[in-house]
Amino acid sequence: MSDTQIDTSTNSIEPLRELFYGHYRFQYLSAACQFGLFELLGREPGITRKEVAERLGIQEQPARILLLGCTSAGLLRKEEDRYFNTPVSEPLAGKLDDIPAAFVPWEQQINYRPMFWFYESLKEYSNVGLQREIPGASPTLYGRLAEDPAKETVFHNMMGSVSRVMAEELVDRLDLSKVTHLLDIGGGTAVNATHLARRWPHLQITIADLPTVAERANEKIASLGLSDRVRAVGLDVFKDEFPKGCDAVLFGHFLEIWSIERNRELIAKAARAVESGASLFVATPEAYDDETGPDVAAALSAYFLTIASGEGMVYTMREYEEWASEVGFEATGRLSVGIGDAVITGVKR
Ligand SMILES: C[S@@+](CC[C@H](N)C(=O)[O-])C[C@H]1O[C@@H](n2cnc3c(N)ncnc32)[C@H](O)[C@@H]1O
Repeated sequence: MSDTQIDTSTNSIEPLRELFYGHYRFQYLSAACQFGLFELLGREPGITRKEVAERLGIQEQPARILLLGCTSAGLLRKEEDRYFNTPVSEPLAGKLDDIPAAFVPWEQQINYRPMFWFYESLKEYSNVGLQREIPGASPTLYGRLAEDPAKETVFHNMMGSVSRVMAEELVDRLDLSKVTHLLDIGGGTAVNATHLARRWPHLQITIADLPTVAERANEKIASLGLSDRVRAVGLDVFKDEFPKGCDAVLFGHFLEIWSIERNRELIAKAARAVESGASLFVATPEAYDDETGPDVAAALSAYFLTIASGEGMVYTMREYEEWASEVGFEATGRLSVGIGDAVITGVKR
């Protein structure tokens, strides 16, 4: 090569390196969590490689590889021959049901293998990842989780961790003083419902979710002493009409799962179930109206297509407002809540 030629062969890989190495890094993180490495270093900061290997019950050579990867990823700090957690890994050293620890088993046990089928899922506009990697006959992740209680628990731990953060903020930002009975569609294990019921003591809430989930929700509601005001009913929102008699409908982390056509149908069902003046709340991860991000919207859109339903994505706020308006709701506002979530509010004309 002459002096005037610039060698771009090494430089051109740099901007892509983070992407190439993403899956290795996640496996270092996941393995460390499965071994309880961050909890170990939380209890015994500054132990050596040999001590780490002994505590984890693995040989020193594989422990060396694990420690190298975690250190290079910024999950551990090495001082001479001693290892410590960093501010990045410290939150993973406890509270395994909370953000961020609850995300690791969800990514590892549910998403990791199915996401290999992203390209095929795009080509076929179908959740090929779910069909190839998660046993069961149901067309959706939720139906297949119902046949696998261990994975269903992993999913609801993750979902609960996200919803708790959102619900803690929502209780004071949504004015439910005039709502008497809220219908919580796809309400899961009642994280939103129980937070809202505790904040608003006059409020009745009906959760509608699949039967196995409704059962779990009712157990939790009973354990919190809220069964007189909150109850979950088992139903399939696509086959059954929504329960009547409510004056507000909440779709919490639900509509992004489904196609545009089904979302229109679901919001129309909500409109049929309530009277004029009733409120509509759509809580969903936020996507910018100009479709440039954020990252979480891109990641979850791939997940909804490849795994969860084969048809959903993180839609823009503007789309929800348009669909709601088509069936008689007037958009009344947008709130940013939780970690990257938004709530679109409306009222039935
Ligand atoms: C992403 S989770 C959201 C849970 C809850 N709203 C929250 O924000 O934490 C979606 C929920 O939709 C429920 N679901 C999926 N398909 C459904 C269907 N056809 N009918 C009723 N619920 C369904 C799932 O069981 C799950 O609890």
